[in-house]
Amino acid sequence: MHIRIFSLLFLFMTTGVAIAGTGPSDQRPSTEDLEKWMVKERRFSERQILRNISPAGSRFGAVLASPSHEDPDYYFHWVRDSAITMDVWMRQLEGSYPDSMPIHLTPVQLEVLLWDYLSFSEFNQGLHGYTGIGEPRYNVDGTPNMLPWSRPQNDGPALRASLFIRFAQYLALQGRWETAVRVVWPVIRRDLDYTATEVLKGSFDIWEEAKGDHFYTRVVNRAALVSGAKLAAATGEAALSAWYSTQASIAESLALAHLDASKQLIVENTHREDGLDYKHGGVDTASLLAFLHSPQEWFLPLNNSFLFNTMGSLERSFASIYQINQRTAHLAPAIGRYPEDRYYNGNPWFLTTLAYAEYFYRLGDRIKGDEYMQRVKYHADASGHMSEQLSRENGYMLSARDLTWSYVAFLTAYEARVKYTSLQKEVE
Ligand code: NOJ
Ligand code: NOJ
Repeated sequence: MHIRIFSLLFLFMTTGVAIAGTGPSDQRPSTEDLEKWMVKERRFSERQILRNISPAGSRFGAVLASPSHEDPDYYFHWVRDSAITMDVWMRQLEGSYPDSMPIHLTPVQLEVLLWDYLSFSEFNQGLHGYTGIGEPRYNVDGTPNMLPWSRPQNDGPALRASLFIRFAQYLALQGRWETAVRVVWPVIRRDLDYTATEVLKGSFDIWEEAKGDHFYTRVVNRAALVSGAKLAAATGEAALSAWYSTQASIAESLALAHLDASKQLIVENTHREDGLDYKHGGVDTASLLAFLHSPQEWFLPLNNSFLFNTMGSLERSFASIYQINQRTAHLAPAIGRYPEDRYYNGNPWFLTTLAYAEYFYRLGDRIKGDEYMQRVKYHADASGHMSEQLSRENGYMLSARDLTWSYVAFLTAYEARVKYTSLQKEVE
């Protein structure tokens, strides 16, 4: 008996706690392996996303945040996540993919995805819930989810409007302007009217934790109102267009107020009114996502020093507070939401680590981007599954399995790599 306990203990002491990962930890990961992995992961991610769209028993157009029903229950259509997800298909339909990346769905299939999403969204908009257009999530039958939740969240309608504005532009280019105005424009307008009306008010942040002013929300509000003003003008609604433009300038100055000139950082959240109160530093990966989720013709270029310093500050914190980053220091640090995070004990997330990769790829720095991509590859499982988080202690996947947004973040990062950093062809 004693011997057994002793030997078990001995075994435990010598092996330590296992670390999740697929590569030998002392070797420099190879670019060739990474490239092969990314090609496979791209197919896998697209399939996983499609599985999470219009699942059996749902209303067509529902986009699951994750198929997980419990711990956590993410079996809902989040307004934010679904708009971020549909961007993947919209990009393919717009033809903005690099030629070397073959598209696996036909234009008709891509359009069906968007039309379903449009009719689901229109159904959502017609039901009031607690906060009308500000509702953060819907049941898969399209009705507002009435559980206690952080509401309103005012980034979602803007993201959705921006997506449908692009869809309307696509239809116009196809010679289907009349359809765009008759069918798509009313849906866009409801979201823009809400965004324009609420622009000065606080709402819950993208992590659904605190009510107040948020850089991310301001930036995506501005982007939607700017392109909405152009579309309104094109439909002949001059007064509406002028109102959207005015509200866009307000959103822009509110966004600029998050740039802290003395610290040279972006302070993501200010003027907290409600919600959790332990987030003291104010720096958050959401600020990077603000840039990645809005068009590039913005008042600050992607390579601005505020964002760069913010990302550096976050990375230094994550490198020191997450044990996994010290245990696997041969890889770039895994990135979380913000240092004080306590959700599931506060861990790195796939989508935020992938956002770092995308940032460097977009700036043309393949080597740096690959370092974060290698980190992601290390924690994904052998078949390519990605959940929402990975344990800060041992790197194993945690929280919602097959998070749609994780796959989306992989796809946009990978697309940026192919588009901005390499001439190599995707070999399949
Ligand atoms: C659930 C939210 O979705 C998550 O983002 C947040 O961190 C926790 N609630 C906070 O309790
Ligand atoms: C929690 C995240 O914090 C939030 O951003 C997301 O919308 C939901 N999970 C659903 O994925």
